[in-house]
Amino acid sequence: LRLGVMASGRGSNLQAIMDAAAAGRIDAEVAVVISDKEDAFALERARKAGIPAEFVDPGKFNSKEDYEKVLVDILNRYEVGLVCLAGYMRIVGRVMLEAFPNRIMNIHPALLPSFPGLHGQRQAWEYGVKISGCTVHFVDEGIDTGPIIIQAAVPVLEGDDVDTLAARILEQEHRIYPQAIQLFASGRLQINGRKVSIKEE
Ligand code: GRF
Repeated sequence: LRLGVMASGRGSNLQAIMDAAAAGRIDAEVAVVISDKEDAFALERARKAGIPAEFVDPGKFNSKEDYEKVLVDILNRYEVGLVCLAGYMRIVGRVMLEAFPNRIMNIHPALLPSFPGLHGQRQAWEYGVKISGCTVHFVDEGIDTGPIIIQAAVPVLEGDDVDTLAARILEQEHRIYPQAIQLFASGRLQINGRKVSIKEE
């Protein structure tokens, strides 16, 4: 399975996916990394691993559609079969969704449907929940609303601050994102409406 990873920032989830691929823990390879931020550390991580890394400046286009057409062209050029959003800070639009139906995943640092949108860890922390976690889901037209593939829970501990909680969640992100990709790669994910079932091996 050829992956296209989209990232806007530090790229630690990208790193976890590249590491899992390099170690043969997933039947997938990162074919291309695309960022909407020229200085995203994710691009550097990709280049260091010898993986094509492309910056596409959204500011250069008149519409989201025109911007996304270029993304789709790149993803198709690299024969990408699954798009993985990994800290990609934009809402995916119609052009991407139609080009990759049920073939775009995202990782969110909270237990959806709680705390969608920006800073899921901080939202959970401020709300005062005792359990939080992360979610890998398919992307639909909403913000963090698509069918859920896997979640991992972590406790909120006495003495935590937002950063210690976020670090505990991140550790689980790095574990479940490659796991979700492997389930997809092995053809075990079946989407029925909102529900994603995982077929037996
Ligand atoms: C992660 O917390 C992810 O859940 C969220 O954005 C952050 C990206 O971190 N969507 P990184 O760039 O993968 O290190």
